[in-house]
Amino acid sequence: MKILLLGKNGQVGWELQRSLAPLGELVAPGRDDTALCGDLSNLDGLARTVQTVRPDVIVNAAAHTAVDRAESEPELAHTLNALAPGVLAREAGKLGAWLVHYSTDYVFDGSGSRPWTETDAPAPLSVYGRSKLEGERLIQAACPQHLIFRTSWVYAARGGNFAKTMLRLAQERERLTVINDQFGAPTGAELIADVTAHALRQCLRQPVGAGLYHLAASGETTWHGYANQVLALAKLIDSAIKIKATEVAPVPSSAFATAARRPLNSRLGCQKLQANFGLTLPNWACGVEKMMREVCEALPIIK
Ligand SMILES: NC(=O)c1ccc[n+]([C@@H]2O[C@H](COP(=O)([O-])OP(=O)(O)OC[C@H]3O[C@@H](n4cnc5c(N)ncnc54)[C@H](OP(=O)(O)O)[C@@H]3O)[C@@H](O)[C@H]2O)c1
Repeated sequence: MKILLLGKNGQVGWELQRSLAPLGELVAPGRDDTALCGDLSNLDGLARTVQTVRPDVIVNAAAHTAVDRAESEPELAHTLNALAPGVLAREAGKLGAWLVHYSTDYVFDGSGSRPWTETDAPAPLSVYGRSKLEGERLIQAACPQHLIFRTSWVYAARGGNFAKTMLRLAQERERLTVINDQFGAPTGAELIADVTAHALRQCLRQPVGAGLYHLAASGETTWHGYANQVLALAKLIDSAIKIKATEVAPVPSSAFATAARRPLNSRLGCQKLQANFGLTLPNWACGVEKMMREVCEALPIIK
């Protein structure tokens, strides 16, 4: 079996290189590769890549993920997050291949406090959210064999992330202010990649699972709760880490001016995914603890 992976160097893409490897031959062009086009802004090149590789499965982990920047570059966001997945879907449809794609809690307007289900009406607040929603719809229209996973608050030990930023700031400042009115679940790229491989394996054997799924760690927190957990874990894991911050003050979203509006309620109900694929999604704090252990081990410089 041949799998075409796009976005191999992103948080999720990196973990997919590991989790998809046992399923078959992985072809993963980078965005600057010349032999095969892996650049989502080159729609013709992308189509040619699929026609050349003739994969059984396409996994698209590439996206325009800079939520605030997307407000000032809506065309690029639209190309990468909507048109490119549409091209992948069209080409996958022609081949009878599967397409796996990732979307976001930002397709919702964040109203209420109930976890969103797959049947709730999306109403994105941002360019990013609108472009991701259009990507979902183009896939649904062109490729029946698709898996679209909407996820939230993605983190990975590799690269920059919210936890590392909090850890650095807590070493530099005595007081941090962190948003406490946005609710969701930090979800590890490792978990997303493992669930992807599991669901895909099941779909390839019994192609009844195609569709849209919410995929997030269980439980919920706010960015403020997340920050507190990160700092508590850092102290627990390595007492040599010097935390200067004595206070993490909760503030509303309105305290930080951002180009893009973010949903206050980012809770994703994942019952459909768990029921259809026989999965139990772990609590968000488990993955964050593992990530923090890796971060603390890898950064002796911050002690
Ligand atoms: N991050 C989150 O909190 C979050 C939340 C909900 C949903 N999601 C969704 O989950 C998926 C994976 O997100 P992630 O966090 O792994 O994102 P990420 O770490 O930002 O990675 C995105 C990848 O897309 C690549 N990319 C950007 N422009 C490209 C282009 N023109 N051609 C080819 N590749 C391009 C980037 O390449 P470079 O490395 O070269 O820049 C990067 O490898 C995305 O669909 C995202 O929308 C993410």
